Amino acid sequence: MTNSELVVEVTDLVAGYLPGVNILTGCSLTAHKGELIGIIGPNGAGKSTLLKAIFGQVHVRGGSMTLNGEDITDLPADKLVARGVGMVPQNNNVFPTLTIEENLQMGLFQNPKIYNERLEFVTSLFTELKSRLKQRAGSLSGGERQMVAMSRALMMDPEVLLLDEPSAGLSPVRQDEAFIRVSEINKAGVTTIMVEQNARRCLQIADRAYVLDQGRDAYTGSGRELLHDPKVISLYLGTLGEEVA
Ligand SMILES: Nc1ncnc2c1ncn2[C@@H]1O[C@H](COP(=O)(O)OP(=O)(O)OP(=O)(O)O)[C@@H](O)[C@H]1O
Ligand SMILES: [Mg+2]
Repeated sequence: MTNSELVVEVTDLVAGYLPGVNILTGCSLTAHKGELIGIIGPNGAGKSTLLKAIFGQVHVRGGSMTLNGEDITDLPADKLVARGVGMVPQNNNVFPTLTIEENLQMGLFQNPKIYNERLEFVTSLFTELKSRLKQRAGSLSGGERQMVAMSRALMMDPEVLLLDEPSAGLSPVRQDEAFIRVSEINKAGVTTIMVEQNARRCLQIADRAYVLDQGRDAYTGSGRELLHDPKVISLYLGTLGEEVA
């Protein structure tokens, strides 16, 4: 997998919110075509900040990013969407007062012509949404809302999908479903970069993963390598990791 084409390359990224306070302190990662990349790490490590910086929502103070070899450092989100990057944020990822259908249309405002084709694709992945397109997103369960958020990002047929904690706040059964859906999206050819709190499940499905700690990539390897790495287990996976080691 890693011999294939480089799609995303993030090099020594430095970024933050408050003047003089860097949250990302030199963070690097790569994603090759078709890879599922996992990002795990403690709360506050900068995982969401990394996705937001890639997606042009946090100002980059140092380092660089490329997409298919072209510089995308500090490009705004709408330009990134046009270039094939989709993002599902950790919070507030649907418009609650709009229907499912309207949420999906919002995802496609840059290219409404492909609506029917894309609707077919996302409802083939998320069959439960098909009969409920007129329901308001605010009235959906957490799991259903997550499906709408992923569907909305998929409407533009992205080459790269950034997912921030797709399993957060879901019951264990719904969490399993979320991971299955992410795998399916990835298998459909979408290069996927997924931040996850559920580190063990994330490493199980990721081709490669990064452990983020204090704003930089502390460890990297295949999902399997990291699952069995004693340092990663003791520092980041705890007993959950030992179960599978
Ligand atoms: N808008 C903001 N303004 C100022 N500081 C922020 C802002 N957003 C995040 N931070 C700070 O940046 C640091 C990293 O936050 P971030 O949300 O990236 O962490 P995370 O790894 O995603 O954590 P979690 O696992 O809890 O989601 C935290 O110390 C947080 O308080
Ligand atoms: Mg986060």
